[in-house]
Amino acid sequence: MTKIIQVEQDMSALDEAAEALKNGALVALPTETVYGLGANAFCEPAVKNIFLAKGRPQDNPLIVHVSGRAMLEQVVRRIPPEAELLMEHFWPGPLTMIMEKADCISHTVTAGLDTVAVRMPAHPAALALIEKSGVPVVAPSANLSGSPSTTRASHVIADLSGKIDYIIDGGACQVGLESTVLDLTGDVPQILRPGGVSLAALREVLPETTYEPALKQSGIAPKSPGMKYRHYAPKAELYLVSGDFTEKVLPRLSLEHEKGRKTGVLCRKPENLPADFAMESGETPEAYAKLLFDSLRRMDDWGADVIFAELPPETEGITAALENRLRKAAGGHVL
Ligand code: TXA
Ligand code: MG
Repeated sequence: MTKIIQVEQDMSALDEAAEALKNGALVALPTETVYGLGANAFCEPAVKNIFLAKGRPQDNPLIVHVSGRAMLEQVVRRIPPEAELLMEHFWPGPLTMIMEKADCISHTVTAGLDTVAVRMPAHPAALALIEKSGVPVVAPSANLSGSPSTTRASHVIADLSGKIDYIIDGGACQVGLESTVLDLTGDVPQILRPGGVSLAALREVLPETTYEPALKQSGIAPKSPGMKYRHYAPKAELYLVSGDFTEKVLPRLSLEHEKGRKTGVLCRKPENLPADFAMESGETPEAYAKLLFDSLRRMDDWGADVIFAELPPETEGITAALENRLRKAAGGHVL
């Protein structure tokens, strides 16, 4: 049985779940990026249960979530000076940093690596839960492996109800896409996964920070093991559209309708398109990011066979993360 707990202002609603989390339960928690599936990082059976509940490949390491600096010190061998600077600017928030792991962090958590990914989330319920449990909390995104991530408690219920102990409902996630994963163990800081903190923002603090999306997409020796798997994909076939959306999609919609397939579109101006289910992606990349996973899930629930989604035109801020998720979700289908 999965127990659902609502939190708004009063964090004492979390006491029971925090105690259970510490003792080995699986607890889904809201963060500012996406919902996470949490377990006590020091409890091996609980960590293993995360992989089982999600159907996650064993070689994809987990992010350790901390509530502050003291907890960070527990889980890494040393804190590099770059991390000190980044912490000041971006924590709590959507930045995950890779450092050398401390001995107390098991190879189950890190999937055999000697490094560990650490983040301090900004959602008050996530911070309160970690603090009350008193232990660092490993948490991958709270979705079935391969599916769109979860940004509302209802998404977590759909994917994981009956498989986990608690779901904390803290409302819709603010950012809507996962944290930026930044590797601090190489010569220069390197973005392994674009996310809620942009390359430009990181470069204001550490100018030498790099990001090579092409290398990542080619699949050569991925440094972040998770990158090689299918991710974020809806059940419907998903096609991305760059350039003039209407011009490209109109003929495709007629073709799909001739085949008797149910069509969905996700774009800035869906009003006059003859799709069966039309959703607005929002005017800004931030709005699009916040609603992306919810939109894909809603179209799946409705029974779409094929979805056409607009690729965002700009390349700043959250756009790199948005484009990365869209491309992975579409498995390379671009019109
Ligand atoms: O926003 C987020 O980061 C969310 C919330 C819940 O905090 N969590 C999340 O976790 O997205 P997950 O497991 O879905 O993605 C973690 C990513 C994977 O791509 C994984 O391969 C990478 O981080 N990762 C974890 N530990 C790593 C390590 N030691 N070295 C390289 N990559 C690592
Ligand atoms: Mg994930």
